[in-house]
Amino acid sequence: MTESDRVRAAVSAVTDPELRRPIGDLDMVREISVDGDRAHVGIVLTIVGCPAAARIESDVRQAAASVPGIAAVDVEVGVMTPAERKALTEKLRDGRPPRQMPFGPDSLTRVILVSSGKGGVGKSTVTANLAVALADQGLAVGLVDADVHGFSIPGLLGIPAGTQPTRIDDLMLSPVAHGVKTISIGMFLRDGESVVAWRGPMLHRTVQQFLTDVFFGDLDVLLIDMPPGTGDIAISIGQLLPHAEVLVVTTPQTAAAEVAIRSGLVARQTGQRVIGVIENMGRTRSPTAR
Ligand SMILES: Nc1ncnc2c1ncn2[C@@H]1O[C@H](COP(=O)(O)OP(=O)(O)OP(=O)(O)O)[C@@H](O)[C@H]1O
Ligand SMILES: [Mg+2]
Repeated sequence: MTESDRVRAAVSAVTDPELRRPIGDLDMVREISVDGDRAHVGIVLTIVGCPAAARIESDVRQAAASVPGIAAVDVEVGVMTPAERKALTEKLRDGRPPRQMPFGPDSLTRVILVSSGKGGVGKSTVTANLAVALADQGLAVGLVDADVHGFSIPGLLGIPAGTQPTRIDDLMLSPVAHGVKTISIGMFLRDGESVVAWRGPMLHRTVQQFLTDVFFGDLDVLLIDMPPGTGDIAISIGQLLPHAEVLVVTTPQTAAAEVAIRSGLVARQTGQRVIGVIENMGRTRSPTAR
């Protein structure tokens, strides 16, 4: 192995923070040469103004500098040509045609809907915490905020206002927060824009786009934060993901058993299966309480 092969291997292993794959696999590494103890590394980014550019460049610099014998690194950053980008989006889709839902019954991803009969019982809080906990265990986790009218996931995960998915042609890359790939209508609304007037068809289209147009890559688990109750969105999701599993969140006040039975019956109508009931906000006795 020559010195430049070693630099190439180190640089190729750098992970693209948005696509979550080594940049070598993404065909983002170009010419590499070594001149004495100085490495010249060429990389290309997917799009101009790629938000991850600074991070990739510094990771590449660090990776090259970690190769024994390399003391200085020059990084030259370019941008993919439209043809290269097209080849990349095709590769990322894994042969799947555009606009096809990757979470069908054949997919290896476990799809879990977090729902409740009643609002305010802690669905979103539970979903966000569960997502982060699963990601911490090393699973590839996606989170779709299906509560279009009452979205709260970006806030719960600390995603800064104004954060938008990066677009590579017709592919949307979901922002990643605490290791969780996340998408929410809150990332698409500009100042003053509101979704309060949206009805069935608009809501259906939004949820469908989250599931088809967003690039999540291979996920172990996709969690879906549902709006309260059984409205238009629950019906749409029932049609789009009939094989999904359902996690019911309830509180002691909402008569857990009754809610769980009702949710189980609703889920059964669409073929979905209730895998558990979480009683949230139960009273915990403090050791000093009398
Ligand atoms: N275990 C908990 N302990 C204390 N507070 C909690 C707990 N779980 C949730 N909360 C609080 O309860 C409120 C409602 O939680 P959350 O928004 O997660 O509920 P939700 O079921 O998603 O509501 P909605 O139906 O409006 O979507 C929030 O203020 C949240 O911080
Ligand atoms: Mg909620």
